[in-house]
Amino acid sequence: MDIIDKLIRDHHLSREEYIRLLALAEDPSATERLKEEACRLRRRYYKDKVYTRGLIEFTNYCKNDCYYCGIRRGNANARRYRLTKGAILDCCKNGYGLGFRTFVLQGGEDAYFTDARLADIVRSIKAGYPDCAVTLSVGERSYESYARLREAGADRYLLRHETASEGHYGRLHPPQMRLADRKACLYHLKELGYQVGAGFMVGSPGQTDQDIAEDLLFLKELGPQMVGIGPFIPHHDTRFAKEAPGSVELTLFLLSVIRIMLPKVLLPATTALGTLDPKGREKGLEAGANVVMPNLSPVEDRKKYDLYDHKICTGEEAAECRACLARRVEAVGYRIAEERGDART
Ligand code: 5AD
Ligand code: FES
Repeated sequence: MDIIDKLIRDHHLSREEYIRLLALAEDPSATERLKEEACRLRRRYYKDKVYTRGLIEFTNYCKNDCYYCGIRRGNANARRYRLTKGAILDCCKNGYGLGFRTFVLQGGEDAYFTDARLADIVRSIKAGYPDCAVTLSVGERSYESYARLREAGADRYLLRHETASEGHYGRLHPPQMRLADRKACLYHLKELGYQVGAGFMVGSPGQTDQDIAEDLLFLKELGPQMVGIGPFIPHHDTRFAKEAPGSVELTLFLLSVIRIMLPKVLLPATTALGTLDPKGREKGLEAGANVVMPNLSPVEDRKKYDLYDHKICTGEEAAECRACLARRVEAVGYRIAEERGDART
């Protein structure tokens, strides 16, 4: 039986089979079949709904030094900022009025945001907007810390694993950072009842098809509710400044594969995809994605959350992005749903 039929039938493949599947990434008929099946599954569970998440990038201080990232600690050129609780609540207020029912608090690993401070912010958001979900995306923390934040009301947690291959992880991160820690965090979050998001960059320096096969195996093992993938994009102040960006086509291919592997997954068409291709997010939806994550951060700070070069939407107000995305989503036959958008179980 052909490898694509097998994926469609079993929703999973072996390591060797994933590697064989990846060899088809540039084959238009393979891509088309995967896309069709991905859209069929997405429609079965989510109809034509696309969920929006209001992204609040609330601090770009970070104690880590991930080699690919523009806000890594070692980048002395990064202009640092952190939002006050009041500023974060203002973003939520603005976002709520625009129809957002999920707020994603994303930031670097910033020691200023102790458990007590973060829990207080989460509690205030949940008190002010009880019909909204709060998603945290603040990196690796202890089990106890994740437990406190969950108790404070956080519903979901995004922590991309970045790459599930030991050797490749070591090429992207300093030795203090360990893939095993990252994976342990994801399992802790799951155990604590968070809806969990993992994910990886496509085309990060040194990535091979073998590495991507590891990512897919890991996703199947973890069974996350959300998966964030986007192309790697070089940042000028990193050692990878001169590296080639990841491929839009491969990212789209993988979005379809992940939709088929995890049919009910919440899968964003990411900003990185929209950055590399003006129609990237629309193409992402057509490949099987069902989430968009426009930015709610104050415009004066947007440019400073500078993970990679040429990031889009750094000059637009939240309302402009909301309207722009509604147009884009509708242009490809979907509609934005003003709901929390929890994963189907
Ligand atoms: N290119 C693309 N994505 C990046 N991220 C960080 N740096 C880059 C880059 N240079 C992604 C990581 C991280 C998420 C918040 O942004 O996957 O988890
Ligand atoms: Fe931000 Fe289009 S989504 S301007």
